[in-house]
Amino acid sequence: MAQQKSLTVNGKAVRITIDDPEMPLLYALRDNLALHGPRFGCGLGQCGACTVHVDGKAVRSCLTALSQLKPGQKIVTLEGLGTAQKPHPVQQAFIEEQAVQCGYCINGMIMESAAFLAGNKKPSDADIKAALKNNLCRCGTHARILRAVKRAAAAA
Ligand code: FES
Ligand code: FES
Repeated sequence: MAQQKSLTVNGKAVRITIDDPEMPLLYALRDNLALHGPRFGCGLGQCGACTVHVDGKAVRSCLTALSQLKPGQKIVTLEGLGTAQKPHPVQQAFIEEQAVQCGYCINGMIMESAAFLAGNKKPSDADIKAALKNNLCRCGTHARILRAVKRAAAAA
């Protein structure tokens, strides 16, 4: 039966109509709210393409059921991290390093990196690799991604 669900997304309170409270957050973001930064990759929590922030923590939205979200929890997607005019330092660094090939993984790489750098201002290469080890890139853009995250850390 259709029901309403309230969410706080990118600083705005929104209400969506859903049929199933167990629907993944990823579907609500993409299909109900037209936020296409988070991508459907594996749908199994294994690739990271769907990563968003919930209360500042990187989470896999494909595995996060709407029923798991408590009222007032702050959801941030790639669209809410920064803007074209004022990108987040991680977004800016990815642009400057041109750390993209097909781009499918990049939402996850940026969202995971932004959450990671918020808690580690001076990461080593090993720290960055460990933070991103569960984010998959089929294009092999890893060297550029590492440079971009280091650039973002240095800029912070
Ligand atoms: S789509 Fe969520 S981890 Fe792959
Ligand atoms: S840039 Fe294509 S999957 Fe990473």
